[in-house]
Amino acid sequence: MKVAVLGFGTVGVGVWDMLEKAPGLERGLVLVRAGKENEDFKVSSMEAICNDESIDAVAEVMGGVEPAFSYVSMALKAKKHVVTSNKALVAAKGVELNKLAIENGVSFLFSAACGGAVPFLHNLSIATLDDEIESLGGILNGTTNFMLDSMQSEGMDYAEALSIAQKLGYAEADPTADVSGMDALRKIMLACAVAYDKLPVDGFSREGIESITAADVNDFQAMGLTARLVTSGGEAGDSVYAYVEPVLFSAGAAECSVLKNFNMAKYFGKNSGSIVYIGQGAGRYPTASAVIRDLYCIGGVPMFTDKVHEVVADNSACVHGYYVRCEAKDAASFDFEESRVDGENVRGIVKPIAVTAMHEKAKAIRDNGGKIFFAAMEK
Ligand code: HSE
Repeated sequence: MKVAVLGFGTVGVGVWDMLEKAPGLERGLVLVRAGKENEDFKVSSMEAICNDESIDAVAEVMGGVEPAFSYVSMALKAKKHVVTSNKALVAAKGVELNKLAIENGVSFLFSAACGGAVPFLHNLSIATLDDEIESLGGILNGTTNFMLDSMQSEGMDYAEALSIAQKLGYAEADPTADVSGMDALRKIMLACAVAYDKLPVDGFSREGIESITAADVNDFQAMGLTARLVTSGGEAGDSVYAYVEPVLFSAGAAECSVLKNFNMAKYFGKNSGSIVYIGQGAGRYPTASAVIRDLYCIGGVPMFTDKVHEVVADNSACVHGYYVRCEAKDAASFDFEESRVDGENVRGIVKPIAVTAMHEKAKAIRDNGGKIFFAAMEK
């Protein structure tokens, strides 16, 4: 099978390298920006790839919704199989692209878009054939995991941890997507769509790690707790619940041993029970390895079925206790189980509250110029 690669950045170079030695796969062309065609195999025209009948499949690893959406649509219409690591693309346009793939009789696979090297969506799509997925999620962003681990175990500050994650090729081109929780949210959107045929496109609750400070980390550590950015998803009537927020785990929880850029993806199947996958969630070769795996899965179990459709997420039934650090003036917004004054702040544990209500309270405080950090207490 001859493969064209769209994009020649961190992941694109990894895929190109791996294609050289992958049995049964062959290097085709690489799509680069105009003016960057400095080698024989590089082209800047998507038509050149679509019109090349020797190319069977396209690996899209350029990121972003456009022009990736236009290029992937062109490839599918030209009856090329498509594999992609682009979660922004699949989260925004997955239903439409899946329809195009079905119409043209080709595969559309995106295991590399969720969990880096971790074969989460791959196995989830197979699990849905004979099991009911009761819940899913876990740690699905390598950048924030690297940052939280580095802040906690090496005493790094936020800016230094982010800068190293960028240098190591873990972060997105604009790392806001990582630290805001948007990247993790896109991944739980895809997982819900694979598991339930329901792609949530609105109604989320999303909290990243942008508000965390070294003082917060010191405080958790003194309490024997470890912070991780965690995604949660599951069925909620005709819809799904899907949210992202920091969670504090006590020593001994499996999440505490997920270090550096690793992810921990999990689901609970009615028949299988708890299934957990741990592996590198970001980086050149971990992500490229998932792209290559998807190429080998072309023609097999589809990731989205013909029933996949968009829904509005419903998080109203999800309830947790929360750790909160806020300014003293905002403390009355919360029903604390226990709290203490720490300089100008109040820190404490809030009684169980709906996820939606907690996220709305934090938004209201920030809209009024206040500062708050919150993290769910491990369930
Ligand atoms: N920026 C992403 C992460 C890359 O850190 O997880 C892999 O999807």
